[in-house]
Amino acid sequence: MSLLQVIGLQAEIDGKKVLKGIDIEVESGEVHALMGPNGAGKSSLANILLGHYRYQITAGQILLDGEDITYATTSEKAAKGLFLLQQEPPELPGVTVGDLLHAIKEKSLSYEDSFQGITDETKSYADYLGVNQALLTRGINVGASGGEKKRVESLQLAVLRPKFAILDELDSGLDVDALKKVATAVKGLVDGKDYQDLQSGADIAPDGPHRQIGVMIVTHYQRILEYLPADRVHILADGKIVASGDASLVGEIEKVGYKSWL
Ligand SMILES: Nc1ncnc2c1ncn2[C@@H]1O[C@H](COP(=O)(O)OP(=O)(O)O)[C@@H](O)[C@H]1O
Ligand SMILES: [Mg+2]
Repeated sequence: MSLLQVIGLQAEIDGKKVLKGIDIEVESGEVHALMGPNGAGKSSLANILLGHYRYQITAGQILLDGEDITYATTSEKAAKGLFLLQQEPPELPGVTVGDLLHAIKEKSLSYEDSFQGITDETKSYADYLGVNQALLTRGINVGASGGEKKRVESLQLAVLRPKFAILDELDSGLDVDALKKVATAVKGLVDGKDYQDLQSGADIAPDGPHRQIGVMIVTHYQRILEYLPADRVHILADGKIVASGDASLVGEIEKVGYKSWL
């Protein structure tokens, strides 16, 4: 069981206050949806959780399993088990997905294990997620469409199996079929399933061999949450959480928009 705690987090970028005191707690096996109008600070929160260098944290704390990681660097946070899928995934010319996954995983596995494990698992998930082979052998995200980038990032997520994944508009750019596949794969990770479990559709015991990941997903739409149901929904507006509730909150937002919370 893992716990990610965000406590009274305040932050700014270029002198503009973007977070004005955020409190969220996510446990492994949980999905929290973060919704809110454009410019509310959702991407800022996602980026800040992974230590984006352009933001300054001015108050509050980020704790991972009780350890204070507020000011840890991005690579330290990633090594401790945080993963960010950015709203606009960057291009990384010269580094393939396989290179990247191998470089990360070889720290924790023997070379043989990691090389075999990664190639097989990467291929299986790539196939499931509909990641074009050509995208695996060129620089990460280079020349990829918006939806292709989201698939490639999801592939990395599935193979890395972090403790917590922060997914910033995972659904934007994905076609309906890809949306279902990607969201189902993420739900599998939340439930502690591996690729074989996903394929067989079998339920898995809660104390299975893989950790259940925790997810914080930024989205504007109900659709992805049909495949990746949210345990908690938070509405972010002007750098603050103005409402939190269960999944029924999403239906209310779809019906009336955000005006009653602004
Ligand atoms: N470099 C910057 N300088 C000043 N304001 C910024 C900068 N980057 C983002 N912002 C502002 O921060 C606010 C939050 O942005 P963002 O977190 O991207 O919102 P969301 O993801 O909820 O749409 C917006 O008002 C945005 O214009
Ligand atoms: Mg955003």
